[in-house]
Amino acid sequence: MTKPEPIIRLEDVHKYYGDYHALRGITAEIGQGEFFSLLGPSGCGKTTLLRAIAGFEDISSGAIMLGGKNMEGVAPNHRPTNMVFQSYAIFPHLNVEQNVAFGLRKSGMAAADKSRAVGQALEMVGLGGYGARAAHALSGGSGSACTLPAP
Ligand SMILES: Nc1ncnc2c1ncn2[C@@H]1O[C@H](COP(=O)(O)OP(=O)(O)O)[C@@H](O)[C@H]1O
Ligand SMILES: [Mg+2]
Repeated sequence: MTKPEPIIRLEDVHKYYGDYHALRGITAEIGQGEFFSLLGPSGCGKTTLLRAIAGFEDISSGAIMLGGKNMEGVAPNHRPTNMVFQSYAIFPHLNVEQNVAFGLRKSGMAAADKSRAVGQALEMVGLGGYGARAAHALSGGSGSACTLPAP
């Protein structure tokens, strides 16, 4: 049986910012349904790589293959990716609960169901009981996530 094509394939990806060599030959394969985390110290290139996969950054050499297709020259809105920038995704004028509920505003879901869904989501990430806090009153860290929709 042939191995299924990885959903993300990075082939010797290099990125220069001027003279600065930010990505130095990244090669990786990520399969459908895999949960993949990039960990490393600040400045090691995590955001650069995610931005390159999502198409917000051109790479200097190598290839980024998504679903078997080379993404060279493909604009972000034409790639099968979603990217969430933690710091930009939070509305500072809304509390934690309201931030989490934001996407459900137009869903037509009953208020009680919305409230339950938000409570479950907060519990799931260990933030149960923090719903009424202002968003800036949580310790943030920083990060970004890049997801592909299920095929
Ligand atoms: N637009 C840019 N111009 C020049 N250098 C950059 C730019 N973006 C990032 N860098 C540099 O590239 C390196 C990797 O940055 P980044 O991908 O943001 O790292 P991380 O997300 O792992 O903290 C850092 O040294 C950073 O200063
Ligand atoms: Mg970063």
